[in-house]
Amino acid sequence: MASETSSAEMPSIQVLEKEHYFSQAIVPIPSTGPPLPLAAPSSVRLRTKVLALTANNFTYAKLGFLFHWWDIHPLPAAIPPPYADDTKYGRLSAWGWAEVLESTHASVPTGSLLWGYQPIGTLTQDLAVRDCDVAGHVVVTSEHRQKAMPIYNRYFTATGAAADALRREIEDRADGPAYDAVVRIMFETAYLLNRYCLGSPGTPPSAAPGSAPWTPEQASIRGATVIVLAPGSKVGLCFARELRHMRKEGERPTRIIGAASGRSTSFVEATGLYDAVVSATGSPVEILAGLGVAKEEKIVLVDFGGRADAGPRWALALQPMYDKFLMLGVGVEVSEVSQADLLAGLQAGVTPQQTFVNANDVRDQAMKLQGADKYFEELQRAWDLLRKEGLKGLELRWGTGMQDVRRGWDELATGKLKPEEGLAFVI
Ligand SMILES: NC(=O)c1ccc[n+]([C@@H]2O[C@H](COP(=O)([O-])OP(=O)(O)OC[C@H]3O[C@@H](n4cnc5c(N)ncnc54)[C@H](OP(=O)(O)O)[C@@H]3O)[C@@H](O)[C@H]2O)c1
Repeated sequence: MASETSSAEMPSIQVLEKEHYFSQAIVPIPSTGPPLPLAAPSSVRLRTKVLALTANNFTYAKLGFLFHWWDIHPLPAAIPPPYADDTKYGRLSAWGWAEVLESTHASVPTGSLLWGYQPIGTLTQDLAVRDCDVAGHVVVTSEHRQKAMPIYNRYFTATGAAADALRREIEDRADGPAYDAVVRIMFETAYLLNRYCLGSPGTPPSAAPGSAPWTPEQASIRGATVIVLAPGSKVGLCFARELRHMRKEGERPTRIIGAASGRSTSFVEATGLYDAVVSATGSPVEILAGLGVAKEEKIVLVDFGGRADAGPRWALALQPMYDKFLMLGVGVEVSEVSQADLLAGLQAGVTPQQTFVNANDVRDQAMKLQGADKYFEELQRAWDLLRKEGLKGLELRWGTGMQDVRRGWDELATGKLKPEEGLAFVI
């Protein structure tokens, strides 16, 4: 797919070919006349300001046809040929901040910033919103968004002085807003896994469709050996930090092992978050024997998208050897796979048995368990601490404008991004 240069005056969006999402076009969108004032009640006009690209964006591309991710930000009516074909082309989203350019919704005045799931591009969008169960949050009510999981329709607002402070941080290219874009949703996923899936205080949430069910006994990781695949991923790092530093004495696993690719080993070691860092391509049985893990010990394998089918390989090797074995599937490998091949793989059956976990479902259950207010209050406190402390060794790299976004996407698709880097963009 050809990549085009956007003209300076026109807004531009990233367009992907749904079956070949490693390649992209940055497409200028011609104006259809002067913008109309925002007339609908309870609505906001948004323009993405800060966004991040990580392996997670490629999950949206790979599994987008299954989870409505291509439908969240549809192609605009004014898109030029050949892209005006939503069976072939589509847009994806990224986590970050959007500016409120206009508003008819009282709790989100013009000039506010909204954190959440944003379209990749500088074209504005109008959304209908409502206040919800938590002060400072709004939920999208626009018809075309209602098939999306709730996590994609909830936005956190920064208004007044908070918005001004954030805007200054963005102008200064400070680490804070880059963390918000690159790490925040990964942190929440890890927080949910640690606090609501794996033992105290929660019981394991019901397993996602197609998953092996799990019991509270399986989900208790006290005394377990936890093995993390893609241990240098943002979500993997946050997860290891949660296990190591955010659990009570007596509730921690015996050891946390990072099974890394050769590319990320030294970065993962330098974070100091893992008790041992081993090669993801080595023999799992020999590695665990070498670390002195006894056969009767409990093993919890958490796959955040290890390369070259590391997840199935480790699980198939360890499952027969350890009676107490649990595999959690959280991420998928960065690769370009057609929908037909993906479906054929799924129909052939998921091997090995694993329990899939997604942040949306666990967040919903955590909100029910604790109440939305309390859940988000505690999450915010934990996030503020991480945002202040940072993740050791993680280098956030700012880019500016859609051409830098294009370069970032290419770096991820071609595997050229350094494992220690996180990409944030001001557009
Ligand atoms: N289920 C959920 O609700 C949920 C929520 C959040 C995230 N996730 C998933 O968790 C996974 C990790 O997300 P993330 O944003 O934290 O990822 P990330 O920081 O970009 O890290 C990705 C990791 O994947 C491996 N990798 C494999 N191919 C790569 C490539 N071409 N470029 C870069 N890294 C590659 C690397 O580990 P090695 O070098 O060690 O292989 C790298 O450390 C994604 O699949 C994401 O969708 C799922």
